This record gives sequence, C-alpha cells and structure tokens, in this order.
Amino acid sequence: MGFLLPILIALLASVLGGLYLLGAFRQRRPGEPPLDRGPLPWLGHVLEFRRDTAKFLERMKRKHGDIFTVQLGGYYFTFLMDPLSFGAVVKEPRTNLDFTKFAEQLVKKVFGYHPMENDHKFLQASSNKHLMGDGLVVLTQAMMTNLQNLMLQSKETRENNQKTWNEDGLFHYSYNIVFRAGYLSLFGNETPKSTESLEKAIDIDRKKSQELFYEFRKYDQLFPRLAYGVLPPGKKREAERLKRLFWNMLSVHKLKTRENVSGWVREQQQEREEHGMEEFMQDRFMFLLLWASQGNTGPAAFWLLLYLMKHPDAMRAVQQEAEKVLKETGQEEAEKVLKETGQEVKHGGPLVDLTRDMLLKTPILDSAVEETLRLTVAPVLTRAVLKDMSLKLADGNEYWLREGDRVAMFPYTAVQMDPDVHQDPLTFKYDRFLTADGAKKTDFYTGGIKLKYYNMPWGAGHTMCPGRFFATNELKQFVFLVLIYFDFELKNPDEKIPDIDVTRWGFGSMQPTKDVQFKYRLKF
Ligand code: HEM
Repeated sequence: MGFLLPILIALLASVLGGLYLLGAFRQRRPGEPPLDRGPLPWLGHVLEFRRDTAKFLERMKRKHGDIFTVQLGGYYFTFLMDPLSFGAVVKEPRTNLDFTKFAEQLVKKVFGYHPMENDHKFLQASSNKHLMGDGLVVLTQAMMTNLQNLMLQSKETRENNQKTWNEDGLFHYSYNIVFRAGYLSLFGNETPKSTESLEKAIDIDRKKSQELFYEFRKYDQLFPRLAYGVLPPGKKREAERLKRLFWNMLSVHKLKTRENVSGWVREQQQEREEHGMEEFMQDRFMFLLLWASQGNTGPAAFWLLLYLMKHPDAMRAVQQEAEKVLKETGQEEAEKVLKETGQEVKHGGPLVDLTRDMLLKTPILDSAVEETLRLTVAPVLTRAVLKDMSLKLADGNEYWLREGDRVAMFPYTAVQMDPDVHQDPLTFKYDRFLTADGAKKTDFYTGGIKLKYYNMPWGAGHTMCPGRFFATNELKQFVFLVLIYFDFELKNPDEKIPDIDVTRWGFGSMQPTKDVQFKYRLKF
C-alpha cells in the first residue's frame, strides 16, 4: 500500500492537472463577464455552437445578457452582443486585441500557409492600393470583360442559337459565373501568344476556370468542418488532396505565364518572393487569396438575384435604374440596335460598358445589395486578448478580459436581425437603405440611440474586408448584365426562398440548403 500511494497521488495530480489545463476549474472573477463553461471539459459548448451558432448565441444572450464568456474547444470566448458597444472592440489597439494571431492559426490549418513577418501589413497595403481607388477602375474593367466572355459566349448559348431557354440552378449559375469571372480578373488570363488566337485563349480560360470552380466547390463544402477540425478521416484526406491540387493549379510558376494578372495578386507574390519565401509557400498563399476573394461573392450574387426575382417591385425599380444609367451614358442605343437588327452578341469585348463611375450612380441597386448582405452574411469577428484588460460598454459597465482569451462579435444576431434596429428583419426590403429622397440611408437606431454599426457584412476596424468595393461592383455588374442581356425566370415562380444552411454560420456569405431552378435565354 505504501508503495501504491505515491502512484495514486501522482495519478490524481495528473488528472487534476489535466482537468485544470482543460479549463474545468476556471471560475468567474470579480468584474468579469458571466462565465458559462458548457457541458464538456475543454470542448465546452462547441457542439451546440457548431450545430447552429445563431441559435446558441441567442440562447446565451437570453440567459446572460449582452456580454458573456463561453468555452469553445479549449478557448474562452467573450461574446459581445450589444452593437452600441462594438466600437469598444473595433477601436481597441492591436497591442490589446489582435486579429492576426487568431488568423495565423486558422490559415496554417486550412491553407497550409505559414505567414512571414509583417504578412498582414503587406496584405493590407496591397489591398488598399489595388482593390480601391485607381486599382479598382482596372479591376472593374477586367471583371466586365470576363463576365461577358463567360455569360454571353458560353458553349451552351452559342450552340443553342442563343434564342432557346437554358436551365440551371440559380445558386450554381450565379456562383459559377461570379467565381470564374472574379478569378480571371484577379489571377489573369491565358495569353493568346501561347494559343495562336484570342478565341482559343478565351476558350481555355473558360474551360480551366470551370475545372477550378468544380474543385473549389468540393473544398467549399468541407470548409466549415475543416476550420473547426472535425472532419472525419476520409474527408480529411479529401481536403488534403484538394489543397495540393489548388497549390498546383494556382502555382506561381503557372501564374508567371498568364497575362492581365491583377496588381493585387502580382504584387503580393513578388513581395513574398523578394522576402525569400520559398516558392511552394507562395503557391499556398495563392490559394489563400483565391479563397478570400472568391468564397463569398458568388453566393451573395445568388441571394441578390433571387430576392429581386421574388420581389417584382424591387426588380422593377432596379431595372428602371439600370436603364437610366445606360441612357445617361448613351448606351441604350447599343442595346436597341442589337434588338432591332437581331444581331448576334459579338465575341471579343464588352458590348455594354459599366465603369466604376457608372456603378457609383445606382443607389437603388446599392440598397438592394446592402439588404441582401444584411440577410445573408454572417461572420463571427474574433480578436485574441493579448493582455489582461478591461472593456467599457456603452451602458457604462466595465468588464475584465483575461490574456489568452478571445473576444468575438456576431453582428448577424446582435444587430442585422434585431427588430428594434431593422423593422421586420426577416423581410427583404430593397429600399431599406434608402432615404425618402433616394440617397443612402445611414440612420438606424436602437433604444432611440443612433448606431454606427447597423450592418456589418464586411466586418469592422482594421480587418474590415478590403475587397468590399470590388465585391459590390462584381455583384452589381453581374445583376446589370443579367438584366440587360437575358430573359430569365424561376421554373416554379411560387417556389419559396430556401433556408440558410445553418452549419456555415461564422464564415461570411451563407449558402442555401438547396438550389432553385431557373431558366434564361439571350434577349437578342
Ligand atoms: C460579398 C463578398 C464578400 C464578403 C461578404 C466579405 C466579407 C469579409 C469579412 C467579413 C472579412 C473580415 C473578417 C474579420 O474581420 O474577421 C473579410 C476579410 C477579407 N476579405 Fe472579404 N468579403 C467579400 C469579398 C471579398 C473580395 C472580392 C476580396 C478580394 C478581392 C476580399 C478580400 C478579403 C481579404 C484579403 C480579407 C482579409 C482582411 C484582413 O485580414 O485584413 N473579400 N471579408
């Protein structure tokens, strides 16, 4: 017995030590937010959180109020649910609340990418230069050309003599076209020098971007479970295979043979090369850029088009605005001539040109886009707590946060769906973000107090999406072109708008639980 006792004590100590490390003994300290460790050691609430994040956070809010700390997979997350207090997190210096540490772990796991020093600063500098201002003019132009090359010149439309109806799933069609056009605009085109003719080069672009989209969708479907680290072994192997495929398809070696590569992609690749990053790691970075730029806009394009199709008043208003913009720029003539002469839509360059400046004159479509994003974009915005600190909320209460924890906001539940802020929040109102005289509306209130953060599909603060202007233009260009060039309708006009797939909360644009069939044909 004397011999067993030390072993038993050591065993007990290691069990207790293990439980301690698993966070099982954490107690709420004075001044900290309410603590809810959850039913399982270490995992905490992660199963319920993953099953339906929005539902879980609503339950926690009802139980604890506007701020609470929950355990999720070994980390303690303090969720802030009061949008009036979001500024306290967003404006906190990076030395206290930081995004990069959290993001670095995620990109290692999901893309196999190991960032270099100052990686995030390079990303931001390059994004500010190439996704905004003058850079955006070039990119918008490239998008216009690529969209039209894909939408008007597809094999199907050509072979069908352009006049017969084509059928597709609206989600598949929108995601496919916007993904491929966005990819070609950022990662460049096949060069005609290598293919003898522009015609052939465009055909190769079409074919290869199709292959890329096909594989991307497979990864897309695995993504939420991959990010949470809960993929079963077979799917894990599939994710590994796909990762390697993308590293290869997007490799720097191949990139260097392409033309029209955007400044955003080219410059970031060159910077990494100059800083001595190995080429295989640069290939992985290309995959990260593809993901960041293409995972959200396609699904958003689907929701936008579907909401417009299901709301004829909204569709009419957007259509009239589009016609007005074309008229003001003398381009309705091009459309008229095409219609009257029955001329075929010609290859090699846009017929209708929508520049960035024209896209600035569409407040109705802007409002419809913002309303779509309010209803369907739901990121969890997370920061790592780098040192013990306090957070002062709008109601004057102050809470202590511990170093090593995380702070998170889920604006979808906290503000985008709040009936106090957005009346009748589940309904699509295309003019919700318009004032009575047709300008952009920015006055939204909660409890009589004006909100700064009333819709947050792009996040906020120093990690706010730098692609938001380009993404908005992509959505608007896509809708414009569909309206100008196609007759289109739902196969079953009475079909309900599908539910959101709740397993994807937290990753940006939501996807539907099922597709909606539609048909389309060229107008002329
Ligand atoms: C509808 C389309 C899009 C949505 C809803 C969206 C949403 C978001 C959100 C919510 C974040 C920030 C997350 C956070 O703070 O944690 C983000 C970050 C980012 N987005 Fe977007 N995005 C879209 C399109 C794009 C496009 C088209 C590009 C590039 C061309 C892009 C590039 C990026 C990059 C590089 C970041 C990381 C920023 C950083 O870490 O500083 N996004 N996006």
